[in-house]
Amino acid sequence: MGATIYCLCNQKGGCAKTTSSVNIGIGLAREGKKVLLVDADPQGSLTASLGYQQPDQIKVTLATILGAIIMDTPLPDGGGILHHGEGVDLLPANIELSGLEVTLVNIMSRETILRQYLQTVSEAYDAIILDCMPSLGMLTINALAAADEVLIPAQAHFLSIKGLEQLLRTIKKVKRQINPALSIAGILVTMADMRTNYAREIVEILRDTYGEKIRIFESIIPLSVRAAETSAEGKSIYLHDPAGKVAAAYAALTREVMRG
Ligand SMILES: Nc1ncnc2c1ncn2[C@@H]1O[C@H](COP(=O)(O)OP(=O)(O)OP(=O)(O)O)[C@@H](O)[C@H]1O
Ligand SMILES: [Mg+2]
Repeated sequence: MGATIYCLCNQKGGCAKTTSSVNIGIGLAREGKKVLLVDADPQGSLTASLGYQQPDQIKVTLATILGAIIMDTPLPDGGGILHHGEGVDLLPANIELSGLEVTLVNIMSRETILRQYLQTVSEAYDAIILDCMPSLGMLTINALAAADEVLIPAQAHFLSIKGLEQLLRTIKKVKRQINPALSIAGILVTMADMRTNYAREIVEILRDTYGEKIRIFESIIPLSVRAAETSAEGKSIYLHDPAGKVAAAYAALTREVMRG
């Protein structure tokens, strides 16, 4: 069967793609799933958020692996996969990935290099989560080409949901031209300040605009400094603030994602 591959994607920066990747990934592991998190962002934020504070010092990363696929050379021993204390695996990334993205532009099958790699590890996992960078460049296209499901984190802010059109067009194009099996799991509203009506209004606008075609997840991730603190701690919200509202929201979201 192989893993279900989820891609967290939005070209808008800072909408909690990485935070959501961590907490959905570890959320799935807590539900008993075998999970691989893949950092597909040269910023290495996912890598840092899982406790590897100096991504640029890691030798084997996604860039190494994709380079080996491109050159048709053997993958390094162990495949560069790291293990996190909360029961998930991580394929890290660092700045070398931006060089690799430049290389991708000029090669054969450039959109499907990541997919070719993931096929080699898919059998070992129930779920693979791809944390995309904030652009719709070649790495993100590779992630969309490899994914079964796209999750779209969107900040509860009017300007954030305006950018969704371009993203949806890109997803449609990848589905039509490269990956017919791709579907949108849903839009996830993040960083919502539920003390105001504003977040609720945004959710309503989303439902009115897209609700017929795209699922808007019931679980909404609240704005909370507790969530912002986790990246520096290298752990999930479930360990950092287990009784808090963000942990509860991500746990509920994880179950929604699992239900499909
Ligand atoms: N629920 C939340 N409440 C408050 N702050 C949050 C929340 N979720 C994430 N943050 C913080 O917001 C910032 C952006 O989050 P994150 O890095 O997950 O976004 P991103 O979409 O991955 O960003 P990029 O586009 O740069 O990859 C981070 O500092 C993070 O700690
Ligand atoms: Mg990120």
